Amino acid sequence: MYPAPPVTRIFSLTTLVSIVPAVSPSPAAVFATIVTIIPESEIRLPRNSRGVTAIYPGSFDPITNGHLDLIQRGSRLFDRLIVSVLRNETKEPLFSAAERMAMLNEVVGKYPNVAVDSFAGLLVDHAGRHSATVLLRGIRAISDYEYELQMALMNRRLNPGLETVFLLANEAYSFISSRLVKEVFALGGNISGLVPPSVEARLKRRMSQLKRKGA
Ligand code: PNS
Repeated sequence: MYPAPPVTRIFSLTTLVSIVPAVSPSPAAVFATIVTIIPESEIRLPRNSRGVTAIYPGSFDPITNGHLDLIQRGSRLFDRLIVSVLRNETKEPLFSAAERMAMLNEVVGKYPNVAVDSFAGLLVDHAGRHSATVLLRGIRAISDYEYELQMALMNRRLNPGLETVFLLANEAYSFISSRLVKEVFALGGNISGLVPPSVEARLKRRMSQLKRKGA
């Protein structure tokens, strides 16, 4: 098993003084301030560690068991794996980026070298901010290949130092996509075993909210 990495972010006194408000803050307020300043992924994972940091980017709207399988396998291959949710409201996601991150955080807790964050803009820039050298993507079928090839080659052109590593989807999950899960669920089909139970519960709540709104 991968040993739990120590949290190595150390605050100097001056850093702490500059982030702690002058008027008697509660410990919770101080913690909230620190959490706002340091992204979630840097709180959980050691910074400046040697070893390979990989980014697993995607829409994750919502996370499926296929994604989760890739996260589990990626966590064994790389020293740090950051699951990065694309913040792109023009795609009209069913769940907000914050909700998608919450769903991911609910299921990745058992992998100590995995963290969740979000990004907007170019993926290569996001990878650079994390000093990541690998982009992780899954391939389910030949139909994924063209899209993935285009993205990988574009990302290589933008940053030749960043390698895209593909893992073949586990055959048990190779037919699952977030889009199909949402469609089947919206039409009353059974999606158990396709997404984590916590995601199924959130889907139920979201669909009944939408029904109430008449959407
Ligand atoms: O799960 P998805 O929706 O197939 O993920 C697509 C994703 C997020 C990997 C892709 O849209 C992306 O990287 N977007 C960021 C914008 C970008 O960097 N585009 C240029 C390189 S392809």
